[in-house]
Amino acid sequence: MRFNDKTVIVTGAAGGIGGAISARFAAEGAQVVVTDVNAEGAEATVAAILAQGGKARALASDIAQPEGCRAIVENVMPPKAPSTCCATMPASTGAATCWR
Ligand SMILES: NC(=O)c1ccc[n+]([C@@H]2O[C@H](COP(=O)([O-])OP(=O)(O)OC[C@H]3O[C@@H](n4cnc5c(N)ncnc54)[C@H](O)[C@@H]3O)[C@@H](O)[C@H]2O)c1
Repeated sequence: MRFNDKTVIVTGAAGGIGGAISARFAAEGAQVVVTDVNAEGAEATVAAILAQGGKARALASDIAQPEGCRAIVENVMPPKAPSTCCATMPASTGAATCWR
């Protein structure tokens, strides 16, 4: 349980690599914030984590847009989540540029 008491943001987490990363962080005790432009898929990832006894919540956002990134930061970063890390999966040029 290396991520107990930690919040982890995973983008592109509705499936694929981001979904698998979300499940792995949850298995290590993290509270995972499952973000994706696909809100339904993000909810499905959360449901799978909760079914395994993990902690997760969904947050729909488009990280290719500045407001999408801002929404994540404002929703998740301190003081709401004192210890946070981020794994970002959609690697299209637009999304990657925005995150930086
Ligand atoms: N699968 C592989 O073997 C592999 C290998 C090397 C690199 N990659 C790269 O890693 C990344 C993830 O791969 P994957 O197989 O998990 O892809 P995937 O298509 O299964 O998952 C990508 C997720 O990102 C979400 N997404 C796309 N644009 C978004 C945006 N603007 N804002 C928020 N969410 C967005 C999609 O809805 C989807 O859920 C891709 O960029 C891919 O090119 C994948």
